[in-house]
Amino acid sequence: MSLKAFRGAFLDFIDDPFYVSEAESVRYFADGLLVLEDGKVKALGAYDSLQESYADIPVITYPDMLIMPGLIDTHIHFPQTEMIASYGEQLLEWLSKYTFPTEGKFKDKAYAQEIASFFLDELLKHGTTTALVFAAVYPESVDAFFEEASRRHLRMIAGKVLMDRNAPAFLVDTPETAYTESKQLIQKWHKHDRLLYAITPRFAVTSSDKQLQLAGQLLAEFPDVYMHTHLSENVKEVALVAELFPDSDGYLDVYDRAGLVGDKSVFAHGVQLTDAEFQRLSKARSAIAFCPTSNLFLGSGLFKLKQAKSVEYPVKVGFGTDVGGGTSFSMLQTSSEAYKVTQLRGQKLSAFQALFLATLGGAKALSLEETLGNFDPGKEADFIVVNPRATPLMARRNPTPIADSLEALADQMFATMILGDDRAIHATYIMGELAHGQSGVV
Ligand code: GUN
Ligand code: ZN
Repeated sequence: MSLKAFRGAFLDFIDDPFYVSEAESVRYFADGLLVLEDGKVKALGAYDSLQESYADIPVITYPDMLIMPGLIDTHIHFPQTEMIASYGEQLLEWLSKYTFPTEGKFKDKAYAQEIASFFLDELLKHGTTTALVFAAVYPESVDAFFEEASRRHLRMIAGKVLMDRNAPAFLVDTPETAYTESKQLIQKWHKHDRLLYAITPRFAVTSSDKQLQLAGQLLAEFPDVYMHTHLSENVKEVALVAELFPDSDGYLDVYDRAGLVGDKSVFAHGVQLTDAEFQRLSKARSAIAFCPTSNLFLGSGLFKLKQAKSVEYPVKVGFGTDVGGGTSFSMLQTSSEAYKVTQLRGQKLSAFQALFLATLGGAKALSLEETLGNFDPGKEADFIVVNPRATPLMARRNPTPIADSLEALADQMFATMILGDDRAIHATYIMGELAHGQSGVV
């Protein structure tokens, strides 16, 4: 049994601030103590109230820092790391011109390993400790990713991309190879260490109906694996899906008829969803990955966050960076762009709502809320140390290091998410061990 403790300011969420008040959803200790046992949370409380019970164990202190649960990215592509910030196109042309040629390189396992390692370094540097990740069509790319994630003891979800049409020949599989290779990868990687598998049809444009049907069959055989795809991102894409599936009753229905819409399904984007589709997602308990930097960069549109988080038809929502369609690995920058999307819709997104989406909300979207997402006892201790004064400008905007009220904290965290990026991530811990950044004071 190994016990250790961290002292600092702590912020996490115990409920959803879209539906209940901040007082009921935000947990904050200006001077707190987090006690860990074997990499999991044993206790979190005010330093004064816990300190006596744990007087003998080593304490690592982070003065003037804020400790939060690790950030969760519910949609990202590791093979698109090197093609981030590619100029001038919207979705379909961007895929043909930049994405497909880049993903073709991932047949080479050594190259896939190199990028997987760089990609995971970037995630940890930006405070992201769990992600739902697209690999490429090649099984080698999945092996490369999971091998590297396993070496670092990360909780990651990923899968081989399924695509059997409307793409270059070097990048397509068949319905049968997609099924067989995915099944082998599930047997090899699902629940190996902290890793989990997602059946990953790219989107309805690049999968035949047969391939989607077989993916649905595989999901029925392994009901605790995830289903991860793109949905209703771009206007031209939605029109093309209607042409390719003339018998369907809309984009979501294409997936629904294949048995791919369930409570472990995560759909990236959903910018163009209809009211009926939002209702169907709510009923199916599926999740949407809201990817604001990508939706703005690719000119896809403004996601209807308020509709997704409605009381009548609530849909689980997490944030996705969608790198390389997205322009930053940072969930702080993603929060900042999400705020601007809501502004353009005449709505608001508070710092607490954004940070909820980036932590416990993301965990709920990935059905991992019993495992991580906040500091409840028994949860895996993946957490980050945030410096709200990381740059000279942030230090001027946040003159007081430790907020003494929820109101002051809301203001401080709002400025941190608008101005912050990887520079604000002072340290990242995985299962209670330092994985990036600065160690605290012992
Ligand atoms: N739709 C199908 N493939 C992709 C992709 O790689 N990125 C984004 N943003 N949308 C997609
Ligand atoms: Zn994507």
